[in-house]
Amino acid sequence: MDKDRIIIFDTTLRDGEQCPGASMNIKEKMEVARQLAQLKVDVIEAGFPIASPGDFEAVRQIAQEVRTASIAGLARALEKDIEAAARALEPAENPRIHVFLSTSKSHRVHMVHKAKAEIVEMAISSLKFAGKFCSNLEFSPMDASRTEPEFLAEVVTAAIDAGATTVNIPDTVGYAIPDEFAGLIRYLQANVPNIDKAILSVHCHNDLGLAVANSLAAIQAGVRQVECTVNGIGERAGNASMEEIVMALKTRKDFFNKHTNIDTQHIMACSKMVSSFTGFFVQRNKAIVGKNAFAHESGIHQHGFLKKKDTFEIMNPSEIGGEESELVMGKHSGRNALQFRIKELGHELSTEELDRVFDEFKILADEKKDVFEEDILTLVQKVVVSEENQNVWKLKKLEASVSTGTTPSAEITLVGKDGVERSAKGSGDGPVDAICDAIDKITGLSCKLLDYQVLSKTKGTDALGEVSIQTSYKNMKVLGKGIGVNTLDASAQAYVNAVNKLILKDQLSQSSQGEIPGP
Ligand code: KIV
Ligand code: ZN
Repeated sequence: MDKDRIIIFDTTLRDGEQCPGASMNIKEKMEVARQLAQLKVDVIEAGFPIASPGDFEAVRQIAQEVRTASIAGLARALEKDIEAAARALEPAENPRIHVFLSTSKSHRVHMVHKAKAEIVEMAISSLKFAGKFCSNLEFSPMDASRTEPEFLAEVVTAAIDAGATTVNIPDTVGYAIPDEFAGLIRYLQANVPNIDKAILSVHCHNDLGLAVANSLAAIQAGVRQVECTVNGIGERAGNASMEEIVMALKTRKDFFNKHTNIDTQHIMACSKMVSSFTGFFVQRNKAIVGKNAFAHESGIHQHGFLKKKDTFEIMNPSEIGGEESELVMGKHSGRNALQFRIKELGHELSTEELDRVFDEFKILADEKKDVFEEDILTLVQKVVVSEENQNVWKLKKLEASVSTGTTPSAEITLVGKDGVERSAKGSGDGPVDAICDAIDKITGLSCKLLDYQVLSKTKGTDALGEVSIQTSYKNMKVLGKGIGVNTLDASAQAYVNAVNKLILKDQLSQSSQGEIPGP
């Protein structure tokens, strides 16, 4: 095999699934296994067959269906475990039995109650027994990173002699530090005489947040296989994250000079599937697959990104099957980014129009956390609509009062085309009725409210509401629109918008010139 290819051993369905709360049913495991096959992982550790009938069945079904990857089943260094693994793996095209045995002093004394010599003996006899069922054998000295290096070298030598074709060095409790862990790998390479007869592997846990760093350090030191999980799920703080290792090797090929067989286009789909089946949400800022991994909000970043993507982006989201990078519009966004988004949405605005939309955008971004595409469209629409109407009347101020047992009232100030402010108080059955009454008193019109609707244009409790008001005056009917986070304010805008339309309509028709009063 190509010596620069790193073998990806995925243990999402075993170590990942065994962590509290992440269990999946057989159907879900099958789906994940299919997805892992699409990703082209080299080895799928499908479960721990002795652990439960469900685990046994899952390994068996995956072994039956997935033919492109090697399927591994886990076993303690016990004959009954190995037999169960072998039976579950019977239908596999390329089965692997993965035998593990504790080697550190802490585990020897407190868990397995065995002396060093007994551990070596167990490793040898279990691997010889497993060799009766298949030739693809992996051995893991559990808690290897806390095992005395000389003893670890002794066990590994014995395991390879007994038939292990892959020797996996687990940092079971996530205790290792990258330099130190790479040093352990180099120590084994120098002190295990038959090391070239097996593939060296690592399996790192993330208790100190170093699982990926330790795995990469081990790759630099020469290991050929890494064990990892989708989204980094696994015991306690999890395992090394598959997508992070794969993308680190791909993105920094110049540094590592290694590659994997993974079809990275399927990473995102696999991440989403594992997250939804396990109910383990992917944190927003998680590398590679987090929602924010390819989102840029700060004005400076957006500016650079729009000029040239690689100013602030080292990977293209399409490489992992993700959506295009997102320019998240918020209060940190600049005018350039807004213009870019507006163009993307199909609008060409003049400089003045853009200035006006940008001013409104800044006000909105202060009120709302995220400004969505629909918000931007709405702002553009607002600018265009108000320009179209030539703003005969403009809403300056609104004060509405509603309380139980009193008649709703409103005080409105409008500015006319002549620049003069006029105010009036109104009352009605509800606050909108009171607003319309106050506006009618200023404009001198008495419009009939035919329809009133509020539509939430965006998401969240701070969503933008769009108010549509249908009014009639004499035999003319118009629709007015207003937009805002405050629906009463949006209602007043909508009504003023409708009044402006009525005035314009009337002026255009010429027939009733002078009938509708304007300021
Ligand atoms: O973390 C660990 O040591 C393991 C072994 C079974 C490989 O999961
Ligand atoms: Zn583990």
